[in-house]
Amino acid sequence: MEGLRPRLLLLVACCAAAVIGLYLEPDQSFSVPDGWTRAGRLAPFDDVTLTFALKQQNIDKLKQVVDEVSDPESSLYGLHLSLEDLGSLIQPSRLTLSTVKKWLQTYGIEDCQTVETLDFLQCTMPARTAEKLLPGSEFNRYVKGSQSVVRSPVPYRVYEELAGHIDFVGGLHRFPVETKVLSKAWKDHKQRSVELHLGVTPSLIRQRYNLSDTDIGGSPNNSQACAQFLEQYFHQADLAEFMQLFGRSFDHHNQVDKLVGHQGGGRAGLEASLDVEYIMSTGANISTWVFSNPGRHESQEPFLDWLLLLSNMSSLPWVHTVSYGDDEDSLSIAYMERINVEFMKAGARGLSILFASGDSGAGCWHKAKGDNAFRPSFPASSPYVTTVGGTSFKNPFLLTYEVTDYISGGGFSNVFPMPDYQVSAVKNYLNSMVKPPPKSYYNASGRAYPDIAALSDNYWVVSNRIPIPWVSGTSASTPVFGGVLALINDHRLQKGLRPLGFLNPALYKLQANGSSSALFDVTEGCHLSCIDDKVEGQGFCASPSWDPVSGWGTPNFPDLLKALLPK
Ligand SMILES: *[C@@H]1O[C@H](CO)[C@@H](O)[C@H](O)[C@H]1NC(C)=O
Ligand SMILES: *[C@@H]1O[C@H](CO)[C@@H](O)[C@H](O)[C@H]1NC(C)=O
Ligand SMILES: *[C@@H]1O[C@H](CO)[C@@H](O)[C@H](O)[C@H]1NC(C)=O
Ligand SMILES: *[C@@H]1O[C@H](CO)[C@@H](O)[C@H](O)[C@H]1NC(C)=O
Ligand SMILES: *[C@@H]1O[C@H](CO)[C@@H](O)[C@H](O)[C@H]1NC(C)=O
Ligand SMILES: *[C@@H]1O[C@H](CO)[C@@H](O)[C@H](O)[C@H]1NC(C)=O
Repeated sequence: MEGLRPRLLLLVACCAAAVIGLYLEPDQSFSVPDGWTRAGRLAPFDDVTLTFALKQQNIDKLKQVVDEVSDPESSLYGLHLSLEDLGSLIQPSRLTLSTVKKWLQTYGIEDCQTVETLDFLQCTMPARTAEKLLPGSEFNRYVKGSQSVVRSPVPYRVYEELAGHIDFVGGLHRFPVETKVLSKAWKDHKQRSVELHLGVTPSLIRQRYNLSDTDIGGSPNNSQACAQFLEQYFHQADLAEFMQLFGRSFDHHNQVDKLVGHQGGGRAGLEASLDVEYIMSTGANISTWVFSNPGRHESQEPFLDWLLLLSNMSSLPWVHTVSYGDDEDSLSIAYMERINVEFMKAGARGLSILFASGDSGAGCWHKAKGDNAFRPSFPASSPYVTTVGGTSFKNPFLLTYEVTDYISGGGFSNVFPMPDYQVSAVKNYLNSMVKPPPKSYYNASGRAYPDIAALSDNYWVVSNRIPIPWVSGTSASTPVFGGVLALINDHRLQKGLRPLGFLNPALYKLQANGSSSALFDVTEGCHLSCIDDKVEGQGFCASPSWDPVSGWGTPNFPDLLKALLPK
């Protein structure tokens, strides 16, 4: 008898410890990106801030709403939801809210903030509480240069009773992704900068896309935004100097009107300068906001913080451009599915969200030795955003027609199935490929991107008061197209119409209807991929009409406006 009790206890202790909880993100990569080094475990009473993505309701209905309000042939086209109505539709059930609340209270966690739609909770607590709350987690500090973040190198679990109420917990695994603009041409062209090439400037862009000097915003109710992450700051003085140098021929703003979030006082980032300077060059005279999300606390995920802001502000610009992306295979399905729902929420409200397609062409994923595949990027691969690829001039020194920029990100999602709006366009492409890559390299049933494109090569940018040439990447093409859409919204608002909202259903329909003069079709060139003997560095190639390199092509403003502005 006497021996029994301790053994029983041991049994309970052993197995309780082994089975407690479920992994919410078992497929999330825990690998530490290059450049970050671990600087030790957090002290028990150091704070961490975690973001709980609470299970929403009525996702099917939300999907239906987005499809209807974004389809120009639906009677509900443009009948977007307010943030309040969206909240009533999707907010978590009472059971979810109370279960999560009780759980947090049990651990003495009180310092929490929610958002208008109630589907996120952000709470600050001591590390040792967080480690008990989420069995398995271990909070460590990682540093890279002057940056530091807190993350867990091992997966977390939640108690089984909670698993049905939480999609994922943010602040444990994903490292901040650096969005870096390229200056690939810098080395090659440095010596040639005295030649006739002047690089891409606002007037060149406006000329190419047929924006006349009077094609500027005029609606007081219109606005546009770009989002920055990490230590990416823009300086108003850079913008003013940029416009002084390059913006003489059209009326424009010299100031960003609203800064949401925190801007540090550091040096300007090239990326931040680029975004702001070019969205304000095509979307000229339109009020511009910058969302700056370096992550207030080391344990926050800046990208997630931006999404929380969107769900917590009832009045927002209609167009948002974002140059941010991560490999799909490094992210958990639970995370991507939920972020995709966040984009559906934006679409239901009439917001247009544009993502850069990435700067690695089709990408390359070394799955195993001798086993490569293309590597899709998320959120570019989300079916509820509009993804922007890149082009260059056929003759880089002259204003000619556009061809593929070989860096232009594009391909097929391994996570999101192909949405209805693009099925026939993509099928046409797949059936007419001249030199198709091996089928094992991509998933022909996935969401295909990009949707559209713009120039992405050799931009002039002013950063830290210095004009810098040869700046390249799809983070240049994205704000350019964003500004064009904001101009179209401007005309719509002036006519008393609703803004474009989620563009893709309308875009694919109008192109299928033969309005191809609205976009310049890009038909030449291929983008990068794996350097191996099966594909030899080549991904997909551009072709007439839609292709996974340049989408439908680049904007011809007068005709795009006509197509998207009913008489
Ligand atoms: C959302 O906005 C409310 C009201 O402004 C604020 O109290 C709350 O802290 C915000 N939520 C988050 C997560 O920041
Ligand atoms: C727009 O630009 C293209 C080439 O830059 C040109 O061929 C075309 O005539 C222009 N105008 C219209 C209305 O499309
Ligand atoms: C610029 O936009 C404002 C509205 O925000 C409008 O009142 C003004 O007329 C526009 N400027 C020009 C030159 O059209
Ligand atoms: C701007 O928005 C306000 C409020 O929604 C509305 O009353 C006003 O008519 C709008 N003005 C224009 C020019 O669209
Ligand atoms: C291909 O994509 C579909 C979604 O469209 C997904 O269900 C499937 O698992 C993917 N296949 C591979 C091998 O990744
Ligand atoms: C496409 O064409 C059909 C038939 O002509 C028309 O009813 C529809 O409105 C068009 N859609 C768009 C988006 O232009």
